[in-house]
Parts: sequence; C-alpha cells; structure tokens
Amino acid sequence: MLFDVRPKERRSDLYDFERELEELKRGLERTPITLLIGVRRTGKTSLLKVALSELGYPYVYLDTRVSTNPTYRDFANIVKYSLEDFIARSTPLRRKIVERLRRVSGISISISPLSVNISWRGDKRFELLELFNALNKIGSDIGEPVIIAFDEAQELRRITWIDFTRVFAYIYDNLEYIRLALTGSEIGLLYRFINVNSGESPLYGRYIHVVSTRRLSLEESLDFLEKGFREVGVIVPRHVIEAAASVFGGIIGWLTLFGYNCYMNINTCSESIEKVIKIAVETAKREVENFLKTRRSERYRVILKLLTIERSWSEIKNRLEDIEGRTINDKTFNELLTTLLNLSIIEKTNNKYIIADPITRKAVEELVG
Ligand SMILES: Nc1ncnc2c1ncn2[C@@H]1O[C@H](COP(=O)(O)OP(=O)(O)O)[C@@H](O)[C@H]1O
Ligand SMILES: [Mg+2]
Repeated sequence: MLFDVRPKERRSDLYDFERELEELKRGLERTPITLLIGVRRTGKTSLLKVALSELGYPYVYLDTRVSTNPTYRDFANIVKYSLEDFIARSTPLRRKIVERLRRVSGISISISPLSVNISWRGDKRFELLELFNALNKIGSDIGEPVIIAFDEAQELRRITWIDFTRVFAYIYDNLEYIRLALTGSEIGLLYRFINVNSGESPLYGRYIHVVSTRRLSLEESLDFLEKGFREVGVIVPRHVIEAAASVFGGIIGWLTLFGYNCYMNINTCSESIEKVIKIAVETAKREVENFLKTRRSERYRVILKLLTIERSWSEIKNRLEDIEGRTINDKTFNELLTTLLNLSIIEKTNNKYIIADPITRKAVEELVG
C-alpha cells in the first residue's frame, strides 16, 4: 500500500523512484561504497530496504540512530540487534553464518531462542573489523557480495572510539565481498564523517557511488496522492488533494502520512491536512530546537528566522549586522551558513539561501525568539 506509514520494503509499495532504485542496486552490486543521501522523509530507508530485498544478497542492516552520548553498550546493542535480524532472516545460510560469526571475538550466539551477545570489555572484546572480516568470508564462501548497510550513517560520528573512515578504507582495499551502503539525512555531515574530500583521508580519491532521493514535483505529489487514494478505494475531492500537494513541499513522508490519515478517517479528510501539517510542524520544531540547543551561538536562530524567505548572502549578513548593531567578519558568517548547509537545513540555489523544506519554514516562523 502506497500510504503505509512504515518504511517500504517491496517495490510494489514504492511510488516511482525507479531510476533511483536501479542506481542504488547498481552501486550495491558493483562498488565497495554507495552513499544514499537526501533530506529526512524523502524515502531513503524505503529505497534501501527495497534494494536490499530485491538484490537477494546477504545483508546486515544497522540503524545507527543513537543517543547524543552513546556508550560502548549502546553501540554493542546496535550490532546485537542487527546480527539477530541478519541471522533470523537467513534461512538457508543460517548454519554457515552462525559458524562464521561465532569465531569473531566478543560475539556469542545462542540459537533457540535466537540471541546474540556482544561483549564490549575484557580480553575477548568485540572488534568491528573482525566482524567485517567474517562477513567477507561468508561472501567468499558463497561467491556473493555481502552488504552492510548503515542507515543514517552520520550518527556514527558519535561513536568516537572507532575510526570509521579507517574501517571503511580497510574494507575498500581488502574485503572484496563487502559492499557498504551508507545513508544520510545530514548530507554535509555524512561527507565530513567519511571525509572523502580531504587529501589526508584514507578514503581520498576512491570512487564512491552516490545516489540521492529527492522531493517530488507538484505534479508528482498530485499523482502520488491520486494513485494512493485509488489504491485504497477512497474518493477525495480534487481541491483537497491539490491543497495537500502544495503544502507538503514534495516530501513523500508527509504526503504518505496525510494519505494514511485520510484513509483511516475518510469523513475528516480535509481536516487531515491541518492535522498532518501540525504534526509535521511540531516534529520540525523539535528538530530545529534540538539543533539550536547544541549551538552556543544565538546567531543560528536569527539566521533561520531570516531564511523563511529566500535571501542573498549579503542580505542575510546585513540584516544580522543590523540586529546586532555591529559588523561580523565574513569568515565567521560563512561558518554559520556552512553549518546550516551541511545539515541540509538550508539550501542554496541561484545564489539565494532559504530553509529547504516548507514545513521547517513554518516551524521556524512559530519558534519564539
Ligand atoms: N517511494 C515511496 N512510495 C511511497 N511511500 C514512500 C516512498 N518513500 C518513502 N515513503 C514513505 O515516506 C515515509 C518516509 O520514508 P523513509 O523511507 O522512512 O524516509 P527517510 O529514510 O528518507 O527518512 C514513510 O512513511 C514511507 O512509507
Ligand atoms: Mg530513514
């Protein structure tokens, strides 16, 4: 069902994105590292899951969203759950996989009920590289790639005790059967995390396949809603569909949530627009507030407030200076803008800056201060 609110796992539930799906699959089949980038709720997890299931290769899926200050145990748990899921899914290969994984230091596995234990301290503690070596051996045993997918990989930067760039470079150079898939909503952060653009990085100069999700055009948004409603046999007036398509800025996640609300409460469909806008705006507000909380400079709040409409570099800078009553040097100002661009909160087109997503624009308008 197109309006199912969980990440999609089958192509039949995906709206379009055929080209992106093919590109993603091509990357995963052939190149050591594939990035899947795009702002939140544009369908990265869905695309990744469909690609993984269609390719049919063994894969380990890690949801890397951790707390702001993860502990060794938090990371061990992510590995634990992803391996339990991997083993549970792999029916024909289960014995081989368990056998290989049991040899990895710090991993113990019991079968019924299935449980993986990761020990993160002591002599026999878990080593990520050993796990990747074992997965590579599984690939070599069966003569197929093994995919390791880190969803929202920029979050791994909080796992400060592992040098992931080195781990990835090691995989790139030595583990012929491993394919890495890294998704990221905070695109600049993801690039900085894997550090491909720096000459000093162990990944510098390597080919990395990049696929992006995107916002739907207005026509596509209309088409998506119409197809979705037709699929569930719900009739919604055209003007309601048009109104919804225009407010959600082509973000497929919000369109889906709206569609699902209408499907569940047919009589109050037009009110669903308001309801979903409210949820969306509240969610965006929380995200923006969380971001602002982690920043010492009050200037971010001011810049965001200015960027609910499109403005040029000098316009933003002049306004900020007017508000503060003093001049700000270019370098400092550029750093602020770069941070916001890196996080994909704002975007730059034709030399003008604006908050990327219309829902976040609304959220910022409602923020105090
Ligand atoms: N191509 C698609 N067709 C239909 N629904 C989709 C599609 N892509 C994403 N969705 C829906 O949008 C929401 C967000 O998708 P998700 O894959 O979690 O995005 P992301 O990982 O980029 O945040 C989910 O409810 C999902 O079901
Ligand atoms: Mg996701």
